[in-house]
Amino acid sequence: VSQETVRRSINSVIKKLKYYKLNEFAVSCPDIKNIKDKDIVRAIMEGSILGNYEFIKYKTDKSKIIDVNKLGLIHHKSLELRETIERTKIICDNILWLRDIVNENADAKNPVEMANIAREIAKKSKLNIKILDEKDIKKLGMNLFLAVSQGSRFPPRLFILEYNGDKKSKERYALVGKGITFDSGGLNLKGTGFMETMKSDMAGAATIIATLKTLSELKIKKNVIGVLPFCENMISQTAYKPGDIFKSYSGKTVEIINTDAEGRLILADALSYTENVIKPDYIIDLATLTGAILKTFGEYVCGIMSNDSGFAKKLYESGEEEFERVWELPLYEDFKDEVKSDFADMPNSSYEGLYGGYAGAIMGAAFLSNFLENTKWIHMDIAGVSWYEKQRNYMFRGATGWGVRLLVNFFSNN
Ligand code: BES
Ligand code: MN
Ligand code: ZN
Repeated sequence: VSQETVRRSINSVIKKLKYYKLNEFAVSCPDIKNIKDKDIVRAIMEGSILGNYEFIKYKTDKSKIIDVNKLGLIHHKSLELRETIERTKIICDNILWLRDIVNENADAKNPVEMANIAREIAKKSKLNIKILDEKDIKKLGMNLFLAVSQGSRFPPRLFILEYNGDKKSKERYALVGKGITFDSGGLNLKGTGFMETMKSDMAGAATIIATLKTLSELKIKKNVIGVLPFCENMISQTAYKPGDIFKSYSGKTVEIINTDAEGRLILADALSYTENVIKPDYIIDLATLTGAILKTFGEYVCGIMSNDSGFAKKLYESGEEEFERVWELPLYEDFKDEVKSDFADMPNSSYEGLYGGYAGAIMGAAFLSNFLENTKWIHMDIAGVSWYEKQRNYMFRGATGWGVRLLVNFFSNN
């Protein structure tokens, strides 16, 4: 028995309650060898709250949907567990917020609308926020970010969200997130079967908003800054084109081979901006970056790539504890050597090979590595874990809310 088996069994109970149209229940919390009381209670709550979730906003007849909205916990140490209960409720609520926003229609969460949502959250949860508009982004010279944005009727926005939980410490982490509110592929248009879920291409940035909100509400002692480029990748008369060459914020030039490799372009500018202006000690980026990571790990594991194995190891430990698992792929020089263009400093998509898309997830990270000089960095490719094509365990079909528990664990324990 592990925390995960508790989450899964309680989820089975939730599904049965829904079947029998019951909306409240109580659990007599068991003693389980080798698992702390508070971790058992936490798992029971997570299995219940996350397992109860359904995305029903657009169902007109909600009467048939059973909301299991009351959970009783029977425990001989109930007073001692108060803090755990409150903490877990905050984490789960923020995961449900994350699922809702990722499941939402792309237009309803366009970059300008997302800015309003983020401002509201920042005010309520006491985060500092700065939102840069198109003019600011142009002035900074983030031309890769602008190139991706230029085909959309929605202008881009860059959010800087700041949580200072440890005023005594100088140590700072930056979280950089891919916020593509819809990825049509651009002129290299995606086909049927590949475009339907692309409203979820902002899951990385949204996970960071949910994480910062949680860190602040839990008063975790850490300083963490989110850098979130939001824009839309559209097919249009004004869209950027294969063959175009752009100068990035860093000064390096990029040849566009494929307009569907847009995530790495907006992240490139956001990463070098973060290193140059924010100057954090550590950077973690979260991005639904490649379909290739789904070929590698399916929807089960998040692929990570890093320039610091000690840093990656710590993230791995948190992943094991939360059952939000990550696995490191190598970022050897040989991969980076393949990121070569005849016309510019680098292409946005490299050697494909006879069978296509060779080392696709790693090549994405290899491209990104060109935009950082010396900051400790982990790239998390969440394309697989952030969205489930079918209901599985305590995850409803669609947005999973993956990553908040992992990151909150990481910042609480390191
Ligand atoms: N947003 C996609 C990656 C993706 C695929 C996320 C499936 C979730 C599910 C990304 O922008 C993309 O299109 N990547 C391309 C890169 C390629 C053109 C080098 C891919 O993976 O095919
Ligand atoms: Mn794409
Ligand atoms: Zn994308």
